Amino acid sequence: VLISAISVSGFNITVLLGRYPEFSNFSDLLTRTQLAEEINHRSTITVLAVTNDKLGGVAGKPLDVAKRILSNHVILDYFDVLKLNKLKNTRTEVTTLYQASGVANDAQGFLDIVHKLDGSVVFGSAVRGSGLDCKLEGSVASQPYNISVLAVSQVIIAPGMDGTYSKAPASAPPPKANSPTAVPSAASPAVDGPALSPVSGPVADAPVADGPAAADSPAD
Ligand SMILES: *[C@@H]1O[C@H](CO)[C@@H](O)[C@H](O)[C@H]1NC(C)=O
Ligand SMILES: *[C@@H]1O[C@H](CO)[C@@H](O)[C@H](O)[C@H]1NC(C)=O
Repeated sequence: VLISAISVSGFNITVLLGRYPEFSNFSDLLTRTQLAEEINHRSTITVLAVTNDKLGGVAGKPLDVAKRILSNHVILDYFDVLKLNKLKNTRTEVTTLYQASGVANDAQGFLDIVHKLDGSVVFGSAVRGSGLDCKLEGSVASQPYNISVLAVSQVIIAPGMDGTYSKAPASAPPPKANSPTAVPSAASPAVDGPALSPVSGPVADAPVADGPAAADSPAD
């Protein structure tokens, strides 16, 4: 029988990407950063993959930096093209493996997804002021509802991913007089987009580390 190299969780990201030589560098980085193992141990996950020509400088960065960046391309929920196309034209915030690592600052470990009115789907860091420059290009592989591997147009690098992040943005307002001590998360008024529309799937059940509770921030 053909089925022999299947992992216990039922999928193997290295095998899934291995069918496509244009993802070989991305796959190789997942292996070298040991993210491949972490991905294979999850049961509900989405990987945003970039082709070799779009990896840019990531492959040349120190392995710990590359790991941070790539772990932010692993969403702790299942999103295939069908589900993405059901999202609204507002920011839907999702949690990544980087957030689960517990070392993310502010909203670094979250991504925003928008299904634009022109039909395209874009991704970007949920850190305030980040663009939504990363476009969905298509599906690489999917095993509903456990793993979806999507091709995206470029690497997403949240501000400070290279280790230079300064936690106090220059534009941060001074703490309000009525807040006794400057609670760290109070300085970040969370997501700047409109309120999240409820989506059909369970988007909020991913384990969230003790970062700012951006997902349930009140709407403006
Ligand atoms: C996944 O596939 C790679 C390449 O075939 C293999 O080296 C690795 O051991 C596999 N991992 C699991 C958990 O099966
Ligand atoms: C798929 O996900 C379900 C629900 O999380 C889980 O029970 C099941 O074991 C997963 N299957 C595989 C093949 O990972």
